[in-house]
Amino acid sequence: MAWRYVLEFGRKVYWVGVKDRNRRIFDALIPLPRGTSYNAYLIVGSQKNALIDTVNPGFEKVLEDKIGKVMNPRDLDYVIMNHAEPDHAGSIPYILKLSDKAKLVVSKRGARMAQVFYGIPIERMLIVSDQDVIDLGDRRLQFIEAPMLHWPETMFSYLPEDGILFPCDFFGSHIAEPIYDDEVEDLVYQAKRYFGEIMMPFRPMAKRAMEKLRSLNIRIIAPSHGPIIRKPQRILEAYEKWTSGETLRKATLAYVTMWGSTEAMVTTLTETLASEGLQVALHNLATADLGDLAGDLVDSRAIILAAPTVLGGTHPLAAYAATLIKALKPPSKFLALLGSYGWGAASGRQMEEILGTLNLEVLGFVEVNGPPTDADLKRIVDLGKKISERMKEADAK
Ligand SMILES: Cc1cc2nc3c(=O)[nH]c(=O)nc-3n(C[C@H](O)[C@H](O)[C@H](O)COP(=O)(O)O)c2cc1C
Ligand SMILES: [Fe+2]
Ligand SMILES: [Fe+2]
Repeated sequence: MAWRYVLEFGRKVYWVGVKDRNRRIFDALIPLPRGTSYNAYLIVGSQKNALIDTVNPGFEKVLEDKIGKVMNPRDLDYVIMNHAEPDHAGSIPYILKLSDKAKLVVSKRGARMAQVFYGIPIERMLIVSDQDVIDLGDRRLQFIEAPMLHWPETMFSYLPEDGILFPCDFFGSHIAEPIYDDEVEDLVYQAKRYFGEIMMPFRPMAKRAMEKLRSLNIRIIAPSHGPIIRKPQRILEAYEKWTSGETLRKATLAYVTMWGSTEAMVTTLTETLASEGLQVALHNLATADLGDLAGDLVDSRAIILAAPTVLGGTHPLAAYAATLIKALKPPSKFLALLGSYGWGAASGRQMEEILGTLNLEVLGFVEVNGPPTDADLKRIVDLGKKISERMKEADAK
């Protein structure tokens, strides 16, 4: 058997996951500059053992080898499916073939998904509900339903005797290295990108999950992506803020420009906002990392979209960004739209239409014919001042 790295980070609690260092895109959408990991965990109790989640398809044999370093995979008692997405559940069919007796532990909605996605027969499943417990002998494993974080079937697993929480994607981050959170300086930034893409659209459910977790004595968080968190305070505090929908004096400004006219407007607006003491997160959509954009939206009070008119509508990159922003449901309050056009403005209207249901208060809508004149830029400065005023007023609320 090949040499495999397995880590015992708790009392007979092992990390048997995989580091996918070279993966560069997730869900065909989000760049992974630092790769990712698929963390699976093995708990060996005095009577029974449990494997928590599996790994992305393609790494089945590595997972088998890693389990094999601790115990014979044929003796697996429980395979816990916290989440049915293939990055964690994709190797379930392979693992269940190794052990005839292993039961797949699923939520009620998980049972249906395990059938549909992986063809697992119902006889092999043990369906659990919120707060149910299975006995491992010296310890118990408890299940906490966490629906829509970020699929309907999602649940957390918890080892109360050891204070270890296995929340699957919740508290996760796409980082391959290293193994522990305190070795990652920018963990909060990485986790925020992840929260923005994956959890922000379900913020009310995330908030409810945080309330449920408050009564637990969590010592270690073992998520399914990124490092094992042995100093949970930093991430718990960040999640409290992000799930509350609290926004800062911050604007996320996403823009496109072909010939620089829109960019001249963006530069003036950015500098006006900065001179008013506001934070501006600027994203040029031609090269932007959508993970960074999602992360910035988590606590931005204003969203500003700027794009020229192209072929009777907005620039396709702006349409794409607007569609994504709408789907991510950021807690922002204000919107401003900018752009330049050659002979008939159509960009701003289309961006506004796409964002429609977000319920943002529109503070400005400036479309300029060709390159902006000094008078146009003066309007942008005025808009910047207005945005600043409204953002500052909103502090109190
Ligand atoms: C491929 C292409 C298609 C365009 N289509 C339109 C259009 O349908 N309607 C319009 O008013 N202007 C159109 N324009 C003109 C741009 O909107 C105009 O040049 C604008 O000032 C560009 O802003 P920018 O410098 O920020 O790229 C088009 C320009 C290009 C390059
Ligand atoms: Fe997921
Ligand atoms: Fe995942």
